[in-house]
Amino acid sequence: MAIATPVAERTRHFSSSARALLINGEFEQASSGKTFDTVNPASGEVLASIAEGDAQDIDRAVRAARRAFEDGPWSRMTPSERGRIMHRIGDLIMEHADELAELDCLDNGKPLTIARAADIPLAADLFWYMAGWATKLNGGTINPSVPYMPGAEFHAYSLREPVGVVGQIIPWNFPLLMAAWKLGPALATGCTVVLKPAEQTPLSAVRLGELMLEAGLPNGVVNIVTGYGETAGAALAAHPGVDKIAFTGSTEVGKLIAKAATGNLKKVSLELGGKSPNIIFSDADIPAAIAGAAMGIFFNQGEVCSAGTRLYVQQDRFDEVVEGVAKAAKAVKVGPGMNADTEMGPLVSREQFERVTGYLAKGEQAGNRALAGGHAIDGPGYFVEPTVLVDTKPDDVVVREEIFGPVIVALPFSDVDDLARQANDSEYGLAAGVWTKDISKAHKLAKRLKAGTVWVNTYNVYSAELPFGGFKQSGWGREMGEEVLSNYLETKSVIVQL
Ligand code: NAI
Ligand code: MG
Repeated sequence: MAIATPVAERTRHFSSSARALLINGEFEQASSGKTFDTVNPASGEVLASIAEGDAQDIDRAVRAARRAFEDGPWSRMTPSERGRIMHRIGDLIMEHADELAELDCLDNGKPLTIARAADIPLAADLFWYMAGWATKLNGGTINPSVPYMPGAEFHAYSLREPVGVVGQIIPWNFPLLMAAWKLGPALATGCTVVLKPAEQTPLSAVRLGELMLEAGLPNGVVNIVTGYGETAGAALAAHPGVDKIAFTGSTEVGKLIAKAATGNLKKVSLELGGKSPNIIFSDADIPAAIAGAAMGIFFNQGEVCSAGTRLYVQQDRFDEVVEGVAKAAKAVKVGPGMNADTEMGPLVSREQFERVTGYLAKGEQAGNRALAGGHAIDGPGYFVEPTVLVDTKPDDVVVREEIFGPVIVALPFSDVDDLARQANDSEYGLAAGVWTKDISKAHKLAKRLKAGTVWVNTYNVYSAELPFGGFKQSGWGREMGEEVLSNYLETKSVIVQL
């Protein structure tokens, strides 16, 4: 496989020197002086060298965030001023869209065209949307009834105040977008932040740090500590100076974060794994449903927490649909993300490649049959074939566990009750897709599905306005929409006796 990776001058410039931590508005090397390499997953070659922050750097960053929160210009700014800075961050993201798309493509592997069309505009839009909330965080007036104070009159109201210093730990599947999802609501509510990007994909977050300073964000409001999860990430989750921790990543690490947070009972929000059902009824627009099922799993190499990984098809259309999805899988153009015609890139890392191919081997042992794909692709880079598995049983590992790669498992169902039971038979509850022309059936099923998002006759639709997050072990709390703001706000009741 050709591994052409033409790198634009700006991107080359950005990745040619060791990238530093951002603490209190200054770019600095790690206290230890250590660095680590980030690798281009399309070739396995080193892209750039990054400062390896650890507990000491996290501590410096938390102190800077605390100073910026308690004493800095951030807390004295009007909400309108904060909103305008956030708007400028969105503008600067779009002005640098080509460069940011290239950084995410090189670092993560995803197709450049998709990063440019989806990740980057969604990240900008998140800042624009959240900028509007900065001026709309109002409490309310309240009329208290106090039975043991007969005749007393009160004037009471609520205030909504920022929770304080926030730690944010993000994954590698949408590097810039995950930074935006986290930073947007924290900044809108007036919090200050220590952000730890994923070690696999730190480049666009560091570039965003530069752009945020350029937009006028005061020093210390957002600090960025690149480094590993077990060191920098764990230190952030446990730090007693952090008021709230927000995490996106594996359910396994989410549980560690929740435990680490008990030290000072910092607030916790978690966006974790999924094993989302994509459901096709016999009465669906079958060609659209087939295309939607393929996109639902192969988009972003299947490295999507809400990927439609379990395909449930009503019995009488099962063969037709799975053959259609297998045909679509074989047609996907797999290659380096920098190539203009690439539709699916490599997996993010050797570790993820081994995890996904390990699941394919387990599937084969369990007797699962690959209608398409089923194997790694030879050559440099971490490429895996788009895969459709049939002959699976509900208890097979590939049906129960999150694979986080381009692998869909297909199962038949008889009627709505059988389907609802199977679809909800998971420890996860992040998302679901429903394909039918019967509107009542779709809405009734949407109510029964234990999932934070239900897509009807579409899949993988995201927007800054739509709350996103999980039931069950898919997480705590919601990202985006108005809903996310409550994660970053404390409510204060003020009662005045008149
Ligand atoms: P991970 O959960 O280990 O990594 C996510 C983030 O957490 C990274 O920034 C990492 O540095 C940090 N982290 C890791 N260990 C930590 C610790 N002990 N304390 C604090 N922070 C820590 O995910 P990983 O290992 O990259 O992928 C494993 C699996 O997780 C994937 O196969 C997939 O199933 C799932 N995953 C889910 C994501 C989602 O969007 N919900 C995103 C990435 C992975
Ligand atoms: Mg991990």
